[in-house]
Amino acid sequence: MTAIRTVTVHGDSPYTIHIGHGLLEDGALIAGHIRGRHVLIVSDDQVAPLYLPALRQRLLQQRPELLIGEQVIAAGEASKTLDNFARVIDALAGLGATRDACVLALGGGVVGDLAGFAAACWMRGIDCVQLPTSLLAMVDSSVGGKTAVDLPQGKNLVGAFHPPRAVIADTATLATLPPRELRAGLAEVIKYAALGDLRFGQWLAQERPALLAGDSEALALAIAASCEHKAEIVARDPLEKAERALLNLGHTFGHAIETAQGYAAPGSDNLIHGEAVAIGMLLAARLSARLGMATDRDADALEQLLRSFELPTQIPAGLTAQTLLAHMRLDKKNTAGKLRLILWTAFGQACIVPDVDEQAVLAVLRQP
Ligand code: NAD
Ligand code: GLY
Repeated sequence: MTAIRTVTVHGDSPYTIHIGHGLLEDGALIAGHIRGRHVLIVSDDQVAPLYLPALRQRLLQQRPELLIGEQVIAAGEASKTLDNFARVIDALAGLGATRDACVLALGGGVVGDLAGFAAACWMRGIDCVQLPTSLLAMVDSSVGGKTAVDLPQGKNLVGAFHPPRAVIADTATLATLPPRELRAGLAEVIKYAALGDLRFGQWLAQERPALLAGDSEALALAIAASCEHKAEIVARDPLEKAERALLNLGHTFGHAIETAQGYAAPGSDNLIHGEAVAIGMLLAARLSARLGMATDRDADALEQLLRSFELPTQIPAGLTAQTLLAHMRLDKKNTAGKLRLILWTAFGQACIVPDVDEQAVLAVLRQP
């Protein structure tokens, strides 16, 4: 096992993010966060065969008295549904889970959001330990306590804030992550640079070959830096009353793309979350320039960085500007009748803009 990095998320319910190679093999670390006897491991059908049996075995080695249930969903965004939420709840009921039970979310952000939401709701809230296995989940979704499922009308529309008891990110699992998913996770890493840290952006550009090649040390550094950025913001604003909204740079556009195209399932051509966010960030940068808040040169720099990480930068064919705008109107950041977007004044300087002109948004959405 190599160096373990930790990041603390401060606040009313503080918790630690553990980042290191081989952490899923550390049964004592994981079991140490389980208070009661009931454990439900939630995973998906691509991650579970790789990591779930060994996890179960290590937990039982540490704590033979544990009653461990499993709920495995089909992989992909299309599974982040109320139906699967009900299945996880049924599994907790079947296990007889008491208030000291623990949900272990073993997988990417889909599993993390779904399992976290079930943990938030069962008996009005039980522990959830996030065991993220995708880069995107390690740098973003496992941290901060946002949990949710999607509706056909929009992403993450039903959910709750429910901070995890701990986050344990085993970077060894990234070795089995498909390259496209690794790049999608890197889009969320680039987001931290774009919203608040130009120097981190420069570091990412410099480390690009190592990051794209899956170099474990470069990835661990990127994960730790991303978690530090997110932890700072979440500690100050856990419920997104203000600055936490900055973490949504590119997301209003991105979520609209995901919803309009249909939520991705493995093997489909539909964009996955990180890819949609990449396009969304660039649209936000272009809109900022159109509104006279920033230069096109900054947007060009972002486009170049995203392209160098082999991320998409164009809205997929067939999605009209009007359709996308209609989905953007249902975003959670909006206030009555007004589009509230995260834009920027320069690379690394994002800001919240409360009442964005829809004609300007349409113009950017129409650009080839
Ligand atoms: P995902 O959960 O669908 O995982 C991506 C794919 O990679 C899946 O097919 C999964 O089976 C596979 N996979 C994951 N880890 C693997 C591994 N180690 N080896 C092999 N395959 C592996 O998607 P994601 O990109 O991890 O997360 C996206 C989701 O996260 C979206 O639903 C998004 O809305 C949500 N999200 C939430 C927050 C938050 O704050 N809660 C933040 C960002 C994103
Ligand atoms: N991913 C945005 C947030 O956690 O607030």
